[in-house]
Amino acid sequence: MTSTEDGPGVRRGTRRTAPEAAPPPGIRKPLPPRLFAVHGTNAETRWEALRGEDYLTPDDLFFVRNHTATPLIDAATWRLTLWGDALRGGPVAFTYRDLLGMPAETLTAFIECAGNGRRLYGEQQYQEAPGTPWRLGAVGVARWRGVRLATLLERAGMSDRAVALMPRGLDADYVEAGENLGRVRRPLPVAKALDDVLVAYEMNGRPLPPDHGHPARLVVPGWVGAASIKWLGDIEVSAERLESPWSTRLYRMHGPGHPPGGGPPLTRMGVKSAFELPWPARFEAGREHLLRGRSWSGHGRVVRVEVSEDEGVSWRPARLRDDRHPRGWVRWTLPWTPREAGNLRLLARAADETGAVQPDRAAYNLLGYRFDAVVRHPVVVT
Ligand code: MTE
Repeated sequence: MTSTEDGPGVRRGTRRTAPEAAPPPGIRKPLPPRLFAVHGTNAETRWEALRGEDYLTPDDLFFVRNHTATPLIDAATWRLTLWGDALRGGPVAFTYRDLLGMPAETLTAFIECAGNGRRLYGEQQYQEAPGTPWRLGAVGVARWRGVRLATLLERAGMSDRAVALMPRGLDADYVEAGENLGRVRRPLPVAKALDDVLVAYEMNGRPLPPDHGHPARLVVPGWVGAASIKWLGDIEVSAERLESPWSTRLYRMHGPGHPPGGGPPLTRMGVKSAFELPWPARFEAGREHLLRGRSWSGHGRVVRVEVSEDEGVSWRPARLRDDRHPRGWVRWTLPWTPREAGNLRLLARAADETGAVQPDRAAYNLLGYRFDAVVRHPVVVT
């Protein structure tokens, strides 16, 4: 990169561009700054924009995580091909129409990037991690509709020998630091595929929008978002273990305290909470405010949420407001009257039905995945 007085990347004598101008993110939907923070090819939902929203994240507010750019795919000519040595016959291709004609299922589930909260490793634990600097907005809940992956595998003639699948997207090859890693793909164990994975063609009652995988994507409930391959083009069905850079290098915990080469490929996400507040939030002293937030877990329903205004010395239970979808989130509220002007931090801590509780510190790893610690949300009281 060239660096001059005009700012990084701007050479003298060439057409002057604003030093802060970001490259086009390759996302199709509008990204108004009041709804999104843009990080390179990705867009993060602003939590304050969810305030007052219904249970589901509206499509126009749902975060986007693109390794490259959103492709525009014609559903009329699109095919999803299943192939590999664990199919009894040869490859089988399904059209969009085929999918629409199969038994449909609806699933309310969150999709969350494994790196959601990454920036908080630095801000809260003083442990910097490179990568997309998400705060907490790389998560959304939608009602997905589509065909169970199990149904497609059965129709394609999957044999008992199958152990792994490799779903792959139709977006461009991903090049990282000059190395071409090929198209986005990540192995999925057959057991998970048969359990609850959906090949979705609808999001919140409408055909999938281009940025979220049109014509069809995987939805792998509870697991790192990288498993939910968008713009699905083909799935290898294999009698042997499969690997890709998204399972060997990326989406593993690396660094001190983790095995050499990294821990196992990440699957389920932990328990998390977020306030529907700007960062920092502002409140008036001596008045009652209604705090709102949402909590979720990759392991099951959230059963308890508590809020602290004194750095975790004391906690008050929040009121949970929703029928708890096992794979979605729960909205909660708590009235709060800040007593005096000053700066403080609000904490929210959730527990799920397996007994898992948000820890005080997240397990640091070099790529900044799975930040599940209680977040200290900065507040200014005036
Ligand atoms: N699938 C393809 N083909 N290409 C991608 O870049 N990103 C993955 C996953 N599926 C990705 C993909 C990651 S890392 C995440 S977190 C989710 O999609 C994000 O889904 P969303 O953009 O619909 O929110």
